[in-house]
Amino acid sequence: MRKIDVFDTTLRDGEQSAGINLNTAEKLEIAKQLERFNADVIEAGFPASSQGDFEAVKKIAQTVKSSIVTGLARSVKSDIDTSWEALKYGEQPHIHIFLATSPIHMTHKLKKTPDQVVDIAVESVKYAKKHFPLVQWSAEDAFRSDPDFLVRVVREVIKAGATTINLPDTVGYATPSEYGAMFRHLKENVPGIDRVKLSAHCHNDLGMAVANTIAAIENGADQVEGTINGLGERAGNAALEELAVALHIRQDKFTFGTDVKLDEIKRTSQLVSQLTGMAIQANKAVVGKNAFAHESGIHQDGMLKERTTYEIITPELIGENSTQIVLGKHSGRHAFKDKAIALGFELSDEKITEAFKAFKELADKKKEISEDDLYVLLTDQQIQEEEVPVYELKSVQVQYGNGSIPTASVSVISPDGDLLQEASTGSGSVEAICNTLERLVKGKVHLLDYRVTSIGKGRDALGEAVVNMTYNGKSTTGRDVAQDVLEASAKAYLNAINRQLVNERKRSYAKTV
Ligand code: KIV
Ligand code: ZN
Repeated sequence: MRKIDVFDTTLRDGEQSAGINLNTAEKLEIAKQLERFNADVIEAGFPASSQGDFEAVKKIAQTVKSSIVTGLARSVKSDIDTSWEALKYGEQPHIHIFLATSPIHMTHKLKKTPDQVVDIAVESVKYAKKHFPLVQWSAEDAFRSDPDFLVRVVREVIKAGATTINLPDTVGYATPSEYGAMFRHLKENVPGIDRVKLSAHCHNDLGMAVANTIAAIENGADQVEGTINGLGERAGNAALEELAVALHIRQDKFTFGTDVKLDEIKRTSQLVSQLTGMAIQANKAVVGKNAFAHESGIHQDGMLKERTTYEIITPELIGENSTQIVLGKHSGRHAFKDKAIALGFELSDEKITEAFKAFKELADKKKEISEDDLYVLLTDQQIQEEEVPVYELKSVQVQYGNGSIPTASVSVISPDGDLLQEASTGSGSVEAICNTLERLVKGKVHLLDYRVTSIGKGRDALGEAVVNMTYNGKSTTGRDVAQDVLEASAKAYLNAINRQLVNERKRSYAKTV
């Protein structure tokens, strides 16, 4: 069985999705879970793109031990230097440099000739090799590049010291046979190609990202790139959980596989969805809520007689056991802590105490606490960043009747420590809350998107709200959970504002040092 390396770019290409903005603590939490999922390489971000990305990549490189940590860089010395400062703490420092090679990109975006592109690519790889033992070079828009030019530039960057060559279908235009043929062409025509790792990176604009990736493996790729839940620019990247499960389930057909820990898939997918605020479509392959649901009578009958009539993947394979009731109202701190450890959380005593308090409050309202609830509660404790003064919800009250105008009264503690109170109306309860909060926070808010979902099943399930807005002209997303969706909505709204405030503070701090 040929082993295929898994390169996860949830925290870089995935984080580039519209509406996602993760802070350092959230990125670190996802990176630790990707390590448990057994990704061979984790692309933690783009260190030169912002102070926040730099800090997150550095923290992840310092923390993650069993996966290689990398960061993206343009083919310029300053990006490579910044990346080194963030990535030098990794067990095996790895950089990912890219440069576009298609006529469209070279002419219109780079405004460079093919000869100039070859020179820049070679120079950047040579420069990166002064620091990094592992250098991945990507030909952006490789699929729409001239095949002979691709052969030439790849040959030169291998001579310059690149250790991995990545050939992306940047705009998701390829079909499986075409994408596979590009790998075969390079394999057959580039001297020295067998000394480097060949990597596939597919976008899903035409819904073929996973199929194209498999075609690349069949034609010589040793590494696959993708994201959890298929997040990414536009229609997203190849979904890694789908790839890993497809290669596992169809072992009868494929002569290759990954080392992904399949029973970490469900947890990884839920965590990414929770922290990014990107809901998973119910019928999504492998991790959708309905992926194992059998609705029709004929199917249910078949399942009862013999599961394999309609089931090719078992929920257990991907670690789906989260609806189990694990703790209740009478569970003590000891049982709670043991369960947190068993679920893989490493929390300080102080954080366990805070989480236990939140657990007790929840258990008072909800008799049975499921594994889903615990994950949300413990993750929320884990990602609490260092205390900086932000807005804090004190109370929210809504008056609603189908014959009257909904009115909300809200009080918050401001970042300066003042108690602020306001009331406002709206066409519905949520709008009344948003209108009131807009009066309370200083700055200009423009709401872009709002969503509520339930965590787990049952009528007493926790409600999660996600709010996407621009605040003072910058896009930001907030999320929070509560037993009541109106409270969750108010908290998610403030969470979006607070993220923006923390980012602004970081930016002004960075300018002063
Ligand atoms: O899709 C793409 O081309 C990329 C590169 C930066 C590798 O994400
Ligand atoms: Zn990409």
